[in-house]
Amino acid sequence: MTPGVRPFVAGNWKMNGVFASLGEIEAMRRAADAGEAGEAELAVCPPATLLAQAAWKIRGGKLSLGAQDCHPEPSGAFTGDISAPMLKDAGATYVIVGHSERRTLHYETDALVRAKAEAALKAGLTAIVCVGETKEERQAGDAIAVVTRQLKGSLPPGGGPDSVVVSYEPVWAIGTGLTPTPKDVTEMHGAIRTLLGEIYGPGGSKLRILYGGSVKPGNCRDLLTLDNVDGALIGGASLKAAEFLAIAAAYR
Ligand code: PGA
Repeated sequence: MTPGVRPFVAGNWKMNGVFASLGEIEAMRRAADAGEAGEAELAVCPPATLLAQAAWKIRGGKLSLGAQDCHPEPSGAFTGDISAPMLKDAGATYVIVGHSERRTLHYETDALVRAKAEAALKAGLTAIVCVGETKEERQAGDAIAVVTRQLKGSLPPGGGPDSVVVSYEPVWAIGTGLTPTPKDVTEMHGAIRTLLGEIYGPGGSKLRILYGGSVKPGNCRDLLTLDNVDGALIGGASLKAAEFLAIAAAYR
């Protein structure tokens, strides 16, 4: 945790969730309103098809809503894509950009991720910028160099604590049940914090740095209370409100 920084726990539903899943979002909203996550801010990022309906369910409450990706342009002939202003219009306040699944499966480069993050800021959304090394890169001792390069290439100029969140997600920890050691997480988040100061100046010390990758109720306390870990981005364990809230309870 970082003194003076409000923790943030966000769920990334990926390509999961249909109309019937809105009940989980309502349960998250009730918990957020009841303060079940202590001081932490809670957010859920369902697929785009559910955003508008989710926004309706959570209106006036304390649960925040995010999307999982956006196009760099505000509108135009881009079949199948969704722009940042459209996400804002649907009720989102956050958008994830540069998730490793998009970097890998959709060949997204740092430059594209930065363009998406810039579009998010322009639309008034907060960008959750994801970075993380592969197993081979960690084994080669390159983890910090890789994440540094990704951040330098992906972070939007002019960002600050209210417009940018960084999520460190080692690719090999996503959906695998594997997690880095607390020492490795502390070392990486410390390096990210230093870099944020270099990029954003004093504001960099207040940006939230999340950890993501196989966060579960059983390991959340160990991971989420480390220095410079200001919350989590949770995939599989965020699909059910009970599991998601059991993780967020680390901040109670
Ligand atoms: P996981 O995914 O929690 O299922 O490992 C994390 C993520 O991809 O954000």
